[in-house]
Amino acid sequence: MTRDAGADLLVRGLGRLLTMTGDPVEDAAVLVRGGRVAWTGPARDLPAGLGDVPVLDAGGRCAVPGFVDAHTHVVFAGSRRDEFTARLAGVPYDGGGIRTTVAATCAASTEELRSLAAARVRTALGHGTTTMEVKTGYGLTPQEELRMLDVIAWLDETLPVRLEATYLGAHVLPEGRDRGEYVDEVVGTLPEAVRHGARWCDVFCDAGVFTLEETRRVLGAARAAGLGLRLHAEELAHTGAARLAAEAGCASADHLEHVSAEDARAMAAAGVVGVLLPTVTLSLGSQAWGQASVLRDAGVELALATDCNPGTSWCESMPFAVQLACLAQGLAVDEAFRAATLGAAHALRRDDVGHLGVGARGDLAVLDAAHETDVVAHLGAPAAWRTVASGVQVE
Ligand code: NIG
Ligand code: FE
Repeated sequence: MTRDAGADLLVRGLGRLLTMTGDPVEDAAVLVRGGRVAWTGPARDLPAGLGDVPVLDAGGRCAVPGFVDAHTHVVFAGSRRDEFTARLAGVPYDGGGIRTTVAATCAASTEELRSLAAARVRTALGHGTTTMEVKTGYGLTPQEELRMLDVIAWLDETLPVRLEATYLGAHVLPEGRDRGEYVDEVVGTLPEAVRHGARWCDVFCDAGVFTLEETRRVLGAARAAGLGLRLHAEELAHTGAARLAAEAGCASADHLEHVSAEDARAMAAAGVVGVLLPTVTLSLGSQAWGQASVLRDAGVELALATDCNPGTSWCESMPFAVQLACLAQGLAVDEAFRAATLGAAHALRRDDVGHLGVGARGDLAVLDAAHETDVVAHLGAPAAWRTVASGVQVE
């Protein structure tokens, strides 16, 4: 959504509205002017003389701010069907399958990569997502990683979605590469990654992947290159990555299945947002559902994301992440919707999305339900009815 002109729209007939800036409003309306929220409140208080503004009548449904998916890997080619089948038969995930996707992604034409990723982003829009973070990490050579960034930039220009590009050169060590040389190459690509639109740098810092030392090095260089920082942390084992995220000033630490109370306190003190990815826990069958309460008890702000990727979470649906967060991770319904909107915006350090305060982007997910709790309770049903981005109905 690079050319973000924005439009006027009156969304009325809202049985319920969650703005994330105050209490839910019943019988509400939202006025968007020039792509930004101009007014929200009870419909009876709607200012008179609005003129000829286009109207979307929600028919009594409930609306929330457009979902913010704070962690995805939607640019990829190929299948991980065999790995999935093996996992169903009990073979645990160790990150090695990433190389399968790297081979398929590098073999795909740019046209093919664009169209595969665009279809996934379209699916996400249909589920109410209006802002997405998208990582590289299936290229693993400077040329291929930069090509992934170019695909992300193309998606951002072409589709009605706000994208945040993350350089994840340190996703896994490519077969046969020397560790030190590969980390040097990742570091050496950072300035070019910035020129290709990267705003963030991420590292898969975990057992058998990149070490704390290697991660520290990449993050330090990324900060010097002007990138914001985030980490895949404590997913496969407890390694100290969450503590490193706090020490390095990361905006978020994501996964956190093995986070300790002490790690969580360090994250809270440093303002690191904890990104929960419950679809990964489901897909990996790891049953590690306990991290939300550890983080909450320490005062860490929570965010939700899909982690959409071919290996550990083939899912474009934020409402499904919300359902799992409530049903498996123990979040309250209001807490989960907040994590999927405002918390996720904070994980991306954005104050213009994730809420419907005056001046925010006119991004809404109108749910196909009278109340947000029904979305959590109604399993397997399409949750989003319409998606609005910058005052334009896009799905
Ligand atoms: O977030 N953990 C590292 N990266 C992805 C998995 C990527 C893959 O397996 O292809 C994740 O789970
Ligand atoms: Fe991930």
